[in-house]
Amino acid sequence: MNVLGIETSCDETAAAVVTDGRVILSNVVVSSLKFHRKYGGVVPEIASRMQLETITQVTQRAIRQAGIKLRDINLVSVTSGPGLLGSLAVGISFAKSLSYGLGIPLVGVNHLLSHIYAVFLSKDSPKFPLVALVVSGGHTNLFLLKDFDAIELLGSTLDDACGEAFDKVAKILGLGYPGGPVIEKLARQGDPKKIKFSCSGTDRPLDFSFSGIKTAVLYAVRDKRLTLNEKKDIAASFQEAVFASLIKKSLLACKLKKTKRLVVGGGVAVNQCLRNKFLAEARKNNLSLKFPTPHLCLDNAAMVAGLGYQLFIKSYCSDLSLSVDLN
Ligand code: KG4
Ligand code: ZN
Repeated sequence: MNVLGIETSCDETAAAVVTDGRVILSNVVVSSLKFHRKYGGVVPEIASRMQLETITQVTQRAIRQAGIKLRDINLVSVTSGPGLLGSLAVGISFAKSLSYGLGIPLVGVNHLLSHIYAVFLSKDSPKFPLVALVVSGGHTNLFLLKDFDAIELLGSTLDDACGEAFDKVAKILGLGYPGGPVIEKLARQGDPKKIKFSCSGTDRPLDFSFSGIKTAVLYAVRDKRLTLNEKKDIAASFQEAVFASLIKKSLLACKLKKTKRLVVGGGVAVNQCLRNKFLAEARKNNLSLKFPTPHLCLDNAAMVAGLGYQLFIKSYCSDLSLSVDLN
């Protein structure tokens, strides 16, 4: 079954064709990032306008690169939320019109679960039950998955998302947007033990909090002209504290839910330092840990197509009343 995935939850316009939830025939992602940079973050109005302009071409490219024709598509899977309202509306409207025009079914999928599904696109896909950590620009959530449609939310951030904290710290350090890649690069040459940052405690042990550490970075740099080396140390020390919190809570979730399987997805999971630290702790604790391949950590439509397939074969299907789901 050829599934066309459509993803427009943030600044990307993405379309992909995936066969039977596993084989990626094409995966096209076009970002409007360069238009947002000067504002220091994604401007929703600019994102949705760009998506409106590019979605047809991006989809045509995905179909061409897959080596198939439009009539060979059997299902349309689209991100229905959470994300930016206008951006999601563009993808959903486009997916609905394709479904209606081609007379093929439509399924709306959750963006966070599609980030988890990215792990299932690798050769050695995980088994259920598992604990999943999603670390993205908008969310930081721990889930227990017994199946693609049997999901329990175990914890989430009380304030900033993990990727958002990277973006804000990068802004404080004058490093531009998005923050993740540039913080990772600087941190590689910094001393992670130089400054003792830590993430705030939370009443519920599986929740997260990142706004305190962001403020601590702000105080550490306030009224100072930092050298590049000082910035490197701050970046490394910030990463160290954030990753320690992510790892501690993920391991606790596995322990509480009595599972030895852990997956980590979302944009922050592309970070090699995070991957190495997680892998070392997983080994120590005898856990099976899996990440998506790096290019599938960031927003893409292959993960949307894949999850849509899994839900469709379980008889989930949307109709033309599908609307944006911001939760
Ligand atoms: O999942 P994603 O592509 O979009 C959302 O669903 O939000 O994640 C984007 C986030 C941004 O906050 C970005 O700074 C962060 O992922 N990110 C990283 C890295 N690359 C991207 N964070 C840490 N290290 C990275 N290398
Ligand atoms: Zn995302």
